[in-house]
Amino acid sequence: MEKLPENLLKTYNFRAVLSWYGEMGIDTAIGEQPINWLESAKTIDQSLIARARKKAKPRADQSPAKAFLNSQKQQNNTANDQTGDRKEQRKSLLPNSDQQRSVAPPPKTAPLTIPSLELAKQLASQGTSLTDLKNALESFDGCGLKRTAKNLVFSRGAETAKLMIIGEAPGRDEDIVGKPFVGRAGELLDKMLAAIKLEESQVHITNIVYWRPPGNRTPSAEEGLICRPFLNRQIELVAPELILFLGGAAAKQIYETQTGITKLRGKWKQLEIDGKSYQTMATLHPAYLLRTPIAKRLVWQDLQKIQSSLQ
Ligand code: URA
Repeated sequence: MEKLPENLLKTYNFRAVLSWYGEMGIDTAIGEQPINWLESAKTIDQSLIARARKKAKPRADQSPAKAFLNSQKQQNNTANDQTGDRKEQRKSLLPNSDQQRSVAPPPKTAPLTIPSLELAKQLASQGTSLTDLKNALESFDGCGLKRTAKNLVFSRGAETAKLMIIGEAPGRDEDIVGKPFVGRAGELLDKMLAAIKLEESQVHITNIVYWRPPGNRTPSAEEGLICRPFLNRQIELVAPELILFLGGAAAKQIYETQTGITKLRGKWKQLEIDGKSYQTMATLHPAYLLRTPIAKRLVWQDLQKIQSSLQ
């Protein structure tokens, strides 16, 4: 490796800077361009203050449906949330610095190679239980996301379930805990389920990719494709009656369409996976609802369709 000039080394104590980064938990480079977060400090501060003020206590006299529909009063915008439709998030909801990030060149992702895809198919087909499948994923190095993630995020909920829920990708909290939807979006998802009288033990929850994309970016098509043999097998093992996709990224990748989530949501679609047919629907992502509580009305319509179909 090329040595840095002496005068630079004297001026900047790079070793100290790197060790400070390490202590602060900065262990991944997520973009080519630095982002000046101080520029958006005002926006962030205000949202945090507003969030702290609005943290309302749950009311015992509320029905689960009302608790879901009214929960916007407790939720507010934070810079860390993921949304299911990140385009909408970038357009209107994120601090300026993130809008800058959207015009930066797309992230480099590991190329999808035929041997990796073949290996993924082979490993996935060998799994006869969810534990086998999880172990197979642990041993699989063909998805570039694994390199930067802390943990594999496989599933939460029942092993077999009438309703399977598939989100976009693990975020920071999920990466730390190793389970999907355990952060604020997950809390709201639990409220959505409670609103149609379902709890964690009655559903199976996962994502289209099993590792956190660095910086919570949308998983690339390649990352989705390489995880797909495992997801297909997971669906087969869970054997759901209905599959609900959360957010535009999951719906677009699975339905192989460019149509946006606002058009896709709330419509039944029959999906063929490995010779089996599943009834599916897409709805808005709970993280999007955290930022756009007014959209909960639409999700409530979708949830009611799911509820009556399950009955
Ligand atoms: N958002 C997702 O799409 N999946 C998670 O697991 C968490 C947040």
